Amino acid sequence: MKTQTTSIDYIRKDFPILNRCVYDDKQLIYLDNASTTQKPIQVINAINNFYRNYNSNIHRSVYSIANEATAAYENTRSKIAKFLNIRNAKEIIFVRGTTEAINLVAYSWGRNNIAKDDVIVTTEYEHHSNIVPWQLLVKEKQAKLKYIEINENGELRLDQLDDYLEYGNVKLVTFSQMSNVLGTITDSTKIISKCKKYNVKTLIDGAQSAPHMKVNIDDIGCDFFACSAHKMLGPTGVGILWAPKNVMEHMVPFHGGGDMIKEVHKYETTWNDLPYKFEAGTPNIADVIGFSTAIDYINDIGIDTIRNHEEDLRNYALSKLDNIKNIVIYGNKDSAKSGGIISFNFADIHPHDLATILDEDGIAIRSGHHCAQVLMEKLDVPATSRISFYIYNTKNEIDKLVISLEKAARLFKL
Ligand SMILES: Cc1ncc(COP(=O)(O)O)c(C=O)c1O
Repeated sequence: MKTQTTSIDYIRKDFPILNRCVYDDKQLIYLDNASTTQKPIQVINAINNFYRNYNSNIHRSVYSIANEATAAYENTRSKIAKFLNIRNAKEIIFVRGTTEAINLVAYSWGRNNIAKDDVIVTTEYEHHSNIVPWQLLVKEKQAKLKYIEINENGELRLDQLDDYLEYGNVKLVTFSQMSNVLGTITDSTKIISKCKKYNVKTLIDGAQSAPHMKVNIDDIGCDFFACSAHKMLGPTGVGILWAPKNVMEHMVPFHGGGDMIKEVHKYETTWNDLPYKFEAGTPNIADVIGFSTAIDYINDIGIDTIRNHEEDLRNYALSKLDNIKNIVIYGNKDSAKSGGIISFNFADIHPHDLATILDEDGIAIRSGHHCAQVLMEKLDVPATSRISFYIYNTKNEIDKLVISLEKAARLFKL
């Protein structure tokens, strides 16, 4: 465990980008980790090493470097299985990211399992990638999409789920395990135990949870789980979908092409075994290998250490933001119930203006609707400013953020 013997300063040295300045002399302060995280040198080197030393296609050839590439690619699958406590690594499919994983379920499972008047339940705090694929599906099938609303603390109103389940026809409940805007941690266990009573399938969008808290899929008992490598120190363009073998065996392929087939004849094709049935074409080999190194890095620090660090940073940031007049914070102030994400508005400064002012001081925050316009409608705002932490962020960076916010207040004469 790295941080027991070393400090965050030591961890920061692994991230070359954190050394850089913007506008000549402003040290970069990166507070947009919910969007994508920075990459440690170990991940960058793993990708570099693949291209320099054993670049080749996988699952096709008998020569040494192809065998090395196949082994490294498959090793990532086993590593993810261990990381997320998945019993059978062959139930893990490599995809481009959470968005593709959810679209895959909507297409390959949804089209055979959702019919007219069936109900899919999602929540008001979903990312667009857990809304739009279901909108497309329910339109095609004349089914219905319903939302679990949030309360004033940014938590889901699970009494509404009870109503939906009792009313009947619910076939899928799909939700983010951590809101990318509010940080709210969803009570997945509660939702899933309710759904199991009604034999309703569940999908967890783990894009924000898997990087920041312990996820134990075997314990949770969901039916589908999706996450993205780039939000957990890994490269862009790779993520996973997990579903049990008996469910995936009954799903139709998402893409047709090389590697996903057993035999192809003029008018008929048989599918390859899992997981390859869902991995058509040459996959993103280098980045899957980089993902493996990212998981090693997280394991080396310890996911609980990461969670504790971010909870500590969130509490610190909230205490500082509380002292600034005219800041409205959305969601839960109890950091035990939230990941390291804070969304806020500052008087009537537009979030894009605020982000621009902070950028002048080298501080990168996100502004906008965060791909969560349904939630923005609920909050009755067009946009928010969002800060989000990872293991390399420090209290000192939060202090600098506060100084920059005070500067914005002066500029806007607040
Ligand atoms: C909760 C949540 N779900 C899904 C996504 C989409 O992830 P990706 O763009 O990696 O597919 C994001 C990205 O911000 C997210 O925060």
